[in-house]
Amino acid sequence: MNRPYVICHMLTSLDGKIDGAYMSAPECAPALTAYGNLRGVFRCQATLYGTTTMAGSYSKGYVGQVEVSNSDYPKEDFIAVSDAESYVISVDPKGSLAFPCNSIEKKGRAKAHIVEVLTEAVHIDYLAYLRKKEISYIFAGKDTLDCRILLEKLHRLFSIERLMIAGGGLMNWSFVQEDLVDEVSIVMAPVADGSIRAVSIFEKADFLPARSPAVFKLKEAKTLDGDTLWLRYTRR
Ligand SMILES: NC(=O)c1ccc[n+]([C@@H]2O[C@H](COP(=O)([O-])OP(=O)(O)OC[C@H]3O[C@@H](n4cnc5c(N)ncnc54)[C@H](OP(=O)(O)O)[C@@H]3O)[C@@H](O)[C@H]2O)c1
Repeated sequence: MNRPYVICHMLTSLDGKIDGAYMSAPECAPALTAYGNLRGVFRCQATLYGTTTMAGSYSKGYVGQVEVSNSDYPKEDFIAVSDAESYVISVDPKGSLAFPCNSIEKKGRAKAHIVEVLTEAVHIDYLAYLRKKEISYIFAGKDTLDCRILLEKLHRLFSIERLMIAGGGLMNWSFVQEDLVDEVSIVMAPVADGSIRAVSIFEKADFLPARSPAVFKLKEAKTLDGDTLWLRYTRR
């Protein structure tokens, strides 16, 4: 299968949490800075996020009722921009996210064209919404995400050779579930969270079948500023 090399890059607490009060602790600040700075090390052309992460940090929340004038677009891939230098891959199986325009700009990062990843469960009105905004979209799966199809399309349609998967926990595990994560990069803050509700780096969705534990091999362990650890693992 022709697909990108996949790196899952995440900031965690000592107890493997990727969200929660620990992130506001002053002792977590060096890890937050290192997490952002280390993104560039991986030279990825695209970063992929799950629906919840997109809604919380990258999209303009959820779209609600879509008003469209032409909603008979077929459920086929649509590539609005083929020569972007950078992409945000937004996994949105049912088509729910709202966007002001077709790109995302974050401080210190290249402007990224949005590629929405849909399933056949999407309503066709949402396709008209994305076309109007000139946002690219691709189909991968019937009602849940087919990670293999998605990776193959990112490689074939957008020439993406290196992909960063950056949360949340449900999205990360969807790829680990199918042994599609080549490398795991963890920036660990010297802070514990303790919450049993905060999301962990890997969370298996209920609709996925049970599988044996995923095993990785330690590639590198580095101590960074502020007692932060940077751990890199590769797939065994
Ligand atoms: N520390 C870090 O480095 C970091 C980085 C990114 C995010 N985060 C945090 O992570 C948290 C969100 O994590 P999360 O695990 O709750 O959410 P998530 O992975 O961002 O998104 C989960 C949603 O994505 C869809 N999804 C995921 N896997 C799917 C699959 N295989 N098939 C179909 N749909 C799938 C589902 O959407 P539907 O339910 O709509 O079907 C699911 O509810 C946020 O609090 C965010 O701040 C932390």
